[in-house]
Amino acid sequence: MSDSSNSKFHFVCRNCKHEISDFKEWFSYGQKCPKCGKNWVDTVYSQDINKYKDLILNNSTEVKSLWHYFDFLPLNDKKNIISYNEGVIDIDNWTFLEKFAKEQYNIDCTVYAYRNDDNYGTGTFKDAAATLVASVLKENNIKEYAVASTGNVANAFARYLAEAGISLSVFIPNDALKANEAEVSSYGQRVYRVDGDYAKAKKIAAEYSKKYNVLLSSGNTDPMRVESKKVMLFEWLRKLGEVPNVYIQALSGGTGPIAINKAFDDVKDLCIIKQSPRYILVQPSGCAPMTEAWQKAKAKNFPEGWEKDYPIYDNPKSKVPTLATGNPATYPIIAKIVKDSGGEIIECDEDKLVDISRLVAFETTIRIGPAAAVAVGGFFDSLKNGDLKNGDRIMMNIGEGVRRAPDFMKEMIYTTKNISSVDDCENYDRSSYRDQLWKPFK
Ligand SMILES: Cc1ncc(COP(=O)(O)O)c(C=O)c1O
Ligand SMILES: [Zn+2]
Repeated sequence: MSDSSNSKFHFVCRNCKHEISDFKEWFSYGQKCPKCGKNWVDTVYSQDINKYKDLILNNSTEVKSLWHYFDFLPLNDKKNIISYNEGVIDIDNWTFLEKFAKEQYNIDCTVYAYRNDDNYGTGTFKDAAATLVASVLKENNIKEYAVASTGNVANAFARYLAEAGISLSVFIPNDALKANEAEVSSYGQRVYRVDGDYAKAKKIAAEYSKKYNVLLSSGNTDPMRVESKKVMLFEWLRKLGEVPNVYIQALSGGTGPIAINKAFDDVKDLCIIKQSPRYILVQPSGCAPMTEAWQKAKAKNFPEGWEKDYPIYDNPKSKVPTLATGNPATYPIIAKIVKDSGGEIIECDEDKLVDISRLVAFETTIRIGPAAAVAVGGFFDSLKNGDLKNGDRIMMNIGEGVRRAPDFMKEMIYTTKNISSVDDCENYDRSSYRDQLWKPFK
């Protein structure tokens, strides 16, 4: 028997402060506050928050997964954990970008890469959410689940839920990558490829959930997703001894910044972190509704009600389907977080993503996927826009590796020479490519 009895945590509605005692109650009310109907709750723990200090000050290499923070994650019994050792990943120092910032813009900064491409589950940022979702569902005896996803969430949930013996139906938009579809399917989970965009996939998933009484993943404020991703902040502190003052991430729905903010709330009384980072969130140019709304609001000096004014794109055409959220329903939440932090919402030219990924692979041997290249593109653009300053310590979320996108990987080819005899060959010096690879950024 799984144990879902609960005194460890409860939920508090962000809107009306109503308390919900556990996941059973939360699920039974359709993952909405029974009093006001809103779907954003905070998870509150009964554990003494000073315990956080022990966890964060422990820089042992024995820490293997985000379950190190079990005391502050919404699961009661460790035996329900479904994990592939995710969420405790390398943080690299990308000196090649530091050098570039110094040479081109005379900016002295530190650049960290948060290596989600190395997550053991499915190699993306979304493994953190998947380990918590699969474990909570197992603990609560849920046998079937559904999710609408642009790709990476689908993959991660497919694998972790399969491991937990839970059946999953995934609703993907028509432009979702074949590789995503294949991965979900290979775990024996159901794929519904919807003849429309992500918004339509979400709509049909919601109808499916209602008609067949299947629990549906509830999106960017889902307490399971938020609580799992808040661990990022603690990991930075645990590994680096500090929280970087700038955080750059590719932006789709914005679970990342929502979760980091929640992490701050959890530990604010401990006074171990001075301030939240400036969020620099980056959308791909093919689908950048939040950027459009933000830039418009900024140009008008953020007039009354600015955060409610955002466009909705039907069937957005982006080379990064993983980030193609055309209806940015979370914009009011994200935009406020970004503004309070002194940050920016910008866009990255999609036509540069291959150049970015080639450059990173050349300089680091790390091959990043298109959604991760959007974040790195955000670094270059923020330098150009003057959004990065002397002394900044920048954490860039490398959210996925290149294996996520095989077609994109094919575009990484640039050193091939077709030959018919040894006479066509020559001595080779790989550094001869360096100038060519840097050219698009100078
Ligand atoms: C690699 C990668 N980076 C960033 C994101 C954006 O995540 P969010 O906007 O939900 O924080 C995603 C979402 O699918 C992703 O797969
Ligand atoms: Zn409420």
